[in-house]
Amino acid sequence: MKEFVNIGMIGISGRGSGMLRELLKCDGVRVPAVCDKYEDRAMNGKKIVEEEAGNTPDVYLDHKELLARDDLDAVFVATTWITHARIAIDAMRAGKHVAMEVGGAASVEECWQMVRASEETGKFCMLLENCCYDRKEMAIFNMVKQGMFGEIIHMQGGYQHDLRDEISLGRENRHGRLFNFQHRNGELYPTHQLGPISKVLEINRGNRYLSVSSFATKSRGLNEWIKANKGEDYDLANYSFNQGDVVTTVLKCANGETVVLTHDCSLPRHYSRAYRVQGTKGIYMEDGNTLFIEGFTKHEDNWMHPGEDFDKYLEQFEHPLWKKYQIDGVHAGHGGMDYLVLSAFAESVRLDAKPPIDVYDAATWMAVTCLSEESIAIGGAPVPFPDFTNGMWIDREPYRRGVFCLDEVCSDFFEEK
Ligand SMILES: NC(=O)c1ccc[n+]([C@@H]2O[C@H](COP(=O)([O-])OP(=O)(O)OC[C@H]3O[C@@H](n4cnc5c(N)ncnc54)[C@H](O)[C@@H]3O)[C@@H](O)[C@H]2O)c1
Repeated sequence: MKEFVNIGMIGISGRGSGMLRELLKCDGVRVPAVCDKYEDRAMNGKKIVEEEAGNTPDVYLDHKELLARDDLDAVFVATTWITHARIAIDAMRAGKHVAMEVGGAASVEECWQMVRASEETGKFCMLLENCCYDRKEMAIFNMVKQGMFGEIIHMQGGYQHDLRDEISLGRENRHGRLFNFQHRNGELYPTHQLGPISKVLEINRGNRYLSVSSFATKSRGLNEWIKANKGEDYDLANYSFNQGDVVTTVLKCANGETVVLTHDCSLPRHYSRAYRVQGTKGIYMEDGNTLFIEGFTKHEDNWMHPGEDFDKYLEQFEHPLWKKYQIDGVHAGHGGMDYLVLSAFAESVRLDAKPPIDVYDAATWMAVTCLSEESIAIGGAPVPFPDFTNGMWIDREPYRRGVFCLDEVCSDFFEEK
């Protein structure tokens, strides 16, 4: 393992600045270069590095100039949904490993370009899907691997987050979401829920998604919020947003499971990823935080029983990574998962080895966005899912085992030596 690696940071707005601070806390990471096309944000990146690490990084406004450096082992891309894949492709072609923030793909073509860039250069592209490292998601993964749910039949998840202010004020805040809601209509943000779901379903490793069907409601939430908060005269008050308030997507798997995703960001609501794991032995449901496992959880003999509180079982099924993390000290950032996903990335760069979320995962999870747009445009008809592994999903090279592995619970890596 390399003692130190150099990582360049591209995109330093709200997300990029928070993640840059966490990245600098990961073992063996140095950041000698930062970039944002807005000068004030690039300069903020420089300030963060100076505060956290003590060195003064070079500042770039053009990512291609940063990528021309020959001292970078990797880059971290936290730009907008329609730019991050392009920059990731440029970075791999410039000989750098990539960490890429989450978001959906603009086109199937860009997903193929990511796959080809990684295959041709040998550089990895890790999607930083932090929810794969959430404490509950990891405990549930551990339960799945112990067979607690039996054979998995159906899964659900959602990005259900009231973002009406962030979306509507996109121009004032120079934020990327608004233009997507104006012009697109689809499952715009699939990966927070689809990441953990795909790891449970072993997608691209013996299973794959076959088709996507999506349906969108009408759009009302943003107009109502804008009228109430910016007034009837605000230019977007009566704008006809393309994005439906609630988008429902159904994915069918080669091994017979179904997945339902919900995108719900423009109506008043509480936050929920609505995770649901259902198998032949029982079910977990995030909404209500309940667990029912036949013959294991306790409940009255009454068909209306509410299931048991999942938290009662959290410690029993705690993933060993989270056991260790709680002893070492959990970092801030979405309940601690941000630091874990960054540590997983930093470890892969230092080892120059496969990441736990690879380019096939990234392309598959992100492609749901543009496929769902196509399906909605043709009345919800199923759209075939490309196989980004080009047939290798039935016989893949093994994943890399380790503490951050998301394909298996590698308990032996946590044993005292
Ligand atoms: N994993 C999570 O929990 C989480 C949370 C929030 C945001 N995100 C993701 O992080 C990303 C960034 O989110 P944000 O809220 O900071 O978005 P944002 O729109 O506020 O910021 C994007 C930044 O990228 C910069 N940028 C765009 N193109 C560039 C280029 N070619 N070169 C250099 N800089 C460029 C913009 O100037 C801007 O500062 C998004 O993909 C978002 O989905 C993830």
